[in-house]
Amino acid sequence: MSTTLIGPFRQLLPLTGLPERGAIADEQLLVIPEGGVLVAAGKIVAVGKWQDLRQQYPTAVLEEVAGDQVLLPGLVDAHTHICFAGSRAQDFAARNAGKSYLEMAQAGGGIWSTVQHTRATSQDALTALTRARLDRLLANGVTTVEIKSGYGLNVVEELKLLHAIEAAADQHQVAVVPTCLAAHLVPKDFGGPPEAYLQYLLDELVPVIEQEGYCRRFDIFIEQSAFPAAVARPYLLALKERGFALTVHGDQFTTGGSQVAIDCGALSVDHLEVSGEREIAQLANSQVIPVALPGATIGLGCAFAPARRLLNAGCALAIASDWNPGSAPQGNLLLQAAVLATFEKLTTAEVFAGITQRAARALGLTDRGMLATGCRADLVAFPTNDYREILYQQGSLVPSRVWCEGG
Ligand code: NIG
Ligand code: FE
Repeated sequence: MSTTLIGPFRQLLPLTGLPERGAIADEQLLVIPEGGVLVAAGKIVAVGKWQDLRQQYPTAVLEEVAGDQVLLPGLVDAHTHICFAGSRAQDFAARNAGKSYLEMAQAGGGIWSTVQHTRATSQDALTALTRARLDRLLANGVTTVEIKSGYGLNVVEELKLLHAIEAAADQHQVAVVPTCLAAHLVPKDFGGPPEAYLQYLLDELVPVIEQEGYCRRFDIFIEQSAFPAAVARPYLLALKERGFALTVHGDQFTTGGSQVAIDCGALSVDHLEVSGEREIAQLANSQVIPVALPGATIGLGCAFAPARRLLNAGCALAIASDWNPGSAPQGNLLLQAAVLATFEKLTTAEVFAGITQRAARALGLTDRGMLATGCRADLVAFPTNDYREILYQQGSLVPSRVWCEGG
């Protein structure tokens, strides 16, 4: 088996040995000077000092990098909605001129307007749009990305989105984790209450997904204007019983979602902008990973999720971009995580863990997000000699090279 030795990197941060949950001090970050990574068959074989690895593996093919480079594990974006068509620039302008997100939805904008654009777009065109967004994510260092459906909102259209996501994934290096978000909103053309729509999904969409294996995860938007907590709970429990992994959009405008996520054994609850002491304490007592979405805060101009307090309480906070056409149109995870760090006072170690291994765990993945033997060789190099530059430059320091499974 051919092995490749990649390096030398001025600094290599394996992000190993960090606590699985709770606050992390920067002193806990291991920094290997003049480091290298040995890779075979897409997996990491060894991590260490370049010179030591050269001596231990004299037959390895050398892939030498030039100049100042800092290496991190590839980034994981655990929450996106990048399979969509159209723009909501009009909503954005109107919100900035004083309208609220929910008012815009009621006035014919919002998620429903993206559903109409997306339904009117062919599967192939959606695949191309999604692929182009994957290109952007990869250029920014993201090597694993979760992509939700949720702009189809009936059986045929949701399957079209899941097919488009699958096709984009097949054509791309980035690892894609698909999630069904058919429970994003009750579509205006359904003509029934939320509980009837969810029953329709359970009866007609879920069996097809189950049979064809289009995804292993389901999400729901828990909110009065979408699916109230009491209605969401039996839907999630039914999915859990069928063996699907769960994630929840919760506590974005009103509380209630995080409680349902805990009760139903979800992997993660994402948003949390309005979570208070009660929700934070409950999350800290659970296995659910809270996911902050600073891109939605920046897009809507609302509060950030209480990231500092969640970490202090002992949660394994992850950070994701929520890239979508409505609340989070920007899509730059690193920029958003760096901004969250300044407002919420997060250490570099907490941010790095939140966009790598803790984000991977929010997706149920333990084979990535750190540079350790046996992990996927997903790597991102930044053109600097000091890892602190990465957040300091707030997304402006663009990776010099990204490797997915070593290539
Ligand atoms: O995560 N909150 C619900 N869903 C998305 C927004 C989707 C949209 O506005 O198109 C979110 O913010
Ligand atoms: Fe979202």
